[in-house]
Amino acid sequence: MTILELKNVSKFFGGLAANTDISFSLEEGKIIGLIGPNGAGKTTLFNCITGFYPPSQGQILFKKQNITGLQPHQICRLGMARTWQKVRPLVKMSVLDNVMVGALCRTNSLKIAREIAMEQLKVVHIEHKTNMPAGGLPIGERKRLEIARILATNPELLLLDEVMGGLNTSESEEIIQLILETKSRGLTQMVIEHDMKAIMRISDRIVVLNSGEKLAEGTPAEIADNQEVIDAYLGESHA
Ligand SMILES: Nc1ncnc2c1ncn2[C@@H]1O[C@H](COP(=O)(O)OP(=O)(O)OP(=O)(O)O)[C@@H](O)[C@H]1O
Ligand SMILES: [Mg+2]
Repeated sequence: MTILELKNVSKFFGGLAANTDISFSLEEGKIIGLIGPNGAGKTTLFNCITGFYPPSQGQILFKKQNITGLQPHQICRLGMARTWQKVRPLVKMSVLDNVMVGALCRTNSLKIAREIAMEQLKVVHIEHKTNMPAGGLPIGERKRLEIARILATNPELLLLDEVMGGLNTSESEEIIQLILETKSRGLTQMVIEHDMKAIMRISDRIVVLNSGEKLAEGTPAEIADNQEVIDAYLGESHA
């Protein structure tokens, strides 16, 4: 079943077309990779989907409901959550409190929010850092904190913006395992990533953006073999 559908979505900043006429859909339970060069419009598209920017044109359907123009908190309540490319935890608050903020989108009870948060901290393996200020976490754990925070909102669709950015190989591997575990629980994920090995490994399908436009869409094998994608982004060495 289709969980997310984009119909001709465009986003303009003055004269700059950050997203132009983008259409694709996302099947429930799958991982879709979103790739493309710096400035291609990937984060902007996440901002449009999650309601941080209203699209200039087009329509976005989530679980068949038209969510175009809804506010981020409304979209979050419908079951969609995203991480930020530049991780921004509430640095002075504890790790636990940061994740409780996510859970409070579902409940008014601090007790229940605390239980949900503890559960998700275990999922991302930072339960031993519960009482530390979030600002004291190293980058790899900050990225996992972000994932715990969005999992605590009980989403059906997760949008992950470069959650492996700046991580070393073993830290990235931990994130990959987390993404695959999340998939095995039936959640749908859209993943922006520049690490091509990782994206090819985890994605069921890949959408390629270039200069704000959708350049290609297909299975990882089709994308790796697509001459336009190689020319615009992957380079011959990858092929
Ligand atoms: N709020 C904004 N105001 C004006 N221009 C913006 C804004 N946000 C993004 N842009 C521009 O839109 C284009 C797409 O940016 P975006 O951040 O979506 O790219 P990206 O694909 O996520 O790149 P990266 O891989 O570097 O993260 C860029 O030219 C960027 O400068
Ligand atoms: Mg980006």
